[in-house]
Amino acid sequence: MSNYNIKHLEEYFKVYRKSVREPEVFWEEIAEEHFSWHKKWDKVLYWDFEKPEIKWYEGAKLNITENCIDRHLRMTGDKTAILFEPNNPDEGAQHISYRQLHERVNKFANVLKDNGVRKGDRVCIYLPMIPELAVSLLACARIGAIHSVVFAGFSSNALATRINDSDCKIVITSDGSYRGAKTIDLKGIVDVALEDCPGVHTVLVAERIHSDIKMKPGRDQWLQPLLDQASPECEPEIMDAEDPLFILYTSGSTGKPKGMVHTTAGYMVYTAYTFKNMFRYEEDDVYWCTADIGWITGHSYIVYGPLANGATTLMFEGVPSYPDYGRFWEIVEKHRVNQFYTAPTAIRALAKENLGYVEKYDLSSLKVIGSVGEPINEEAWHWYNDNVGKKKSPIVDTWWQTETGGIMISPIPYVTPTIPTYATLPFIGVQPALMDEKGEELKGNQVEGRLCIKYPWPSIARTIWGNHQRYKDTYFSAFAKKYFTGDGALRDATGYYRITGRVDDVIIVSGHNLGTAPIEDAINEHNAVAESAIVGFPHDIKGNALYGYVVLKEAGAARNPDNLRKEINQKITERIGPIAKLDKIQFATGLPKTRSGKIMRRILRKIAAKDFTNLGDTSTLLNPEIVQEIIDNAH
Ligand code: WT7
Repeated sequence: MSNYNIKHLEEYFKVYRKSVREPEVFWEEIAEEHFSWHKKWDKVLYWDFEKPEIKWYEGAKLNITENCIDRHLRMTGDKTAILFEPNNPDEGAQHISYRQLHERVNKFANVLKDNGVRKGDRVCIYLPMIPELAVSLLACARIGAIHSVVFAGFSSNALATRINDSDCKIVITSDGSYRGAKTIDLKGIVDVALEDCPGVHTVLVAERIHSDIKMKPGRDQWLQPLLDQASPECEPEIMDAEDPLFILYTSGSTGKPKGMVHTTAGYMVYTAYTFKNMFRYEEDDVYWCTADIGWITGHSYIVYGPLANGATTLMFEGVPSYPDYGRFWEIVEKHRVNQFYTAPTAIRALAKENLGYVEKYDLSSLKVIGSVGEPINEEAWHWYNDNVGKKKSPIVDTWWQTETGGIMISPIPYVTPTIPTYATLPFIGVQPALMDEKGEELKGNQVEGRLCIKYPWPSIARTIWGNHQRYKDTYFSAFAKKYFTGDGALRDATGYYRITGRVDDVIIVSGHNLGTAPIEDAINEHNAVAESAIVGFPHDIKGNALYGYVVLKEAGAARNPDNLRKEINQKITERIGPIAKLDKIQFATGLPKTRSGKIMRRILRKIAAKDFTNLGDTSTLLNPEIVQEIIDNAH
């Protein structure tokens, strides 16, 4: 028997040891006992971190939607699979049973087929958090098409870049979206994006806000009439274990976004197994993750992981502040939510509001509360623990990444004793290593270094779409034969891990991963700008906010600096999206650079954080005098 559901700390250690000593035996048992396969694998694992190449369950045949839907029909077909809570509470929730989900996915899959989508084709999905979003992912998976979801807060430009990078021929969107009291013209954003995407021949449009939009004849079609006519039966495409399931873009520290490719079998096994353990999901529980399906958290822990376990997964369309700051807790009470998974930035925002918003609601159904996306600070951890968990529901601080596909370091609730700000212990099968700057592994406890993983786990991304070299350079080149995460971490005296934050040029703002280079590129597009540098600085709610140092082509060009600041943020909104806007913009006559021309971001980071001490040795700079000028004008 494998240990699918870990209940005690000794059991965790025992299973962990087995997963490290005999990884193939271990992962074979998990796959064998908990999933349905058309054909079993020939080989559990092939790996080479130098090439790099990783294959799990090679030779196996399956369809992930059979595991997420069909196999639950016989026993629990009437159970709610997706519980949809709309933006406006008065609209009322929708309960979509496994049987109904089956029918909706099949119909949608047939619509895709009718529109020429075949196995291996890429489908771009740009939708708000409505049921069609989850259904469209599964419909792609049903027919073996590769979905590429783009978060519906990204700008037309960012959308176009992603559509073109993976050569999507079809886009699924909606007329618009609700966001609190606002509506957003999603279809308008798609129309602008598609001016730069000659390859797109079809746009399927879900109706959500009933706005008056333009439909381009020959290209755009309303989704609902097509679904109404489609057959409710669609045989699943039989996929190879290593066939791509989806592409999801994440920002890199340089250049264009990286299309991380996740494949079928390993991703399914790992997300399902981690979901079960990290949330201790039981039969009749209602599970809620507040993330957007546009991010990996939503892919793995709203859609695939929960559905593979036959769970009820709640999908929320709205925002935590609408109609008021009690919305999350109102939903927990209304649906008797048992597991609640959110981001530190949301916790901090809600902690700033009146405690009455939390106290008003009955949260006694909660059993496990989770955190993801960035380090959770001690204050936020305690607020969450005291007011939401009521000191009885354990907090699972789950560390992972788009690239890892599933949770990597986290407590298991009711198993691993928690400590604020610690992600605690590696999950089963995960072998972390901390490395020093020279590339040596730091053995033993009480060490701090760069966080690597030295052995493959089933849901590691297999490549970057269209650029395997970049995959190798980004993740497998910093440290020989190890996957480098880009994060720093420490291991304390008891072996617990604490993630200390990014060590590269990625900045996490409100839990969103932002690369500095694309933002700087957007700023530099402004006519008046010569060059710029972005750094993060601590922010009460967002965790980090962005501070931009901007050098103008003509020193006197900032005659109306506030206007210029607005224009710069407008450029960023157009190129990337409002999430990447700068909180502070300082105009400077130059940036501190090394003799080889590299911007000394370390100095800029300290100035942005108002820490003017220990700026280090600035005498080696090409232009040491600039440092004092920047300090004098800092915000
Ligand atoms: C980066 C990955 C994983 C889904 C959401 C973000 C940071 C994530 C934690 C945590 C400290 C965390 C890391 C990581 N991060 N979770 N519990 N504690 N840091 O996915 O956008 O790919 O970002 O988020 O820096 O590398 P992502």
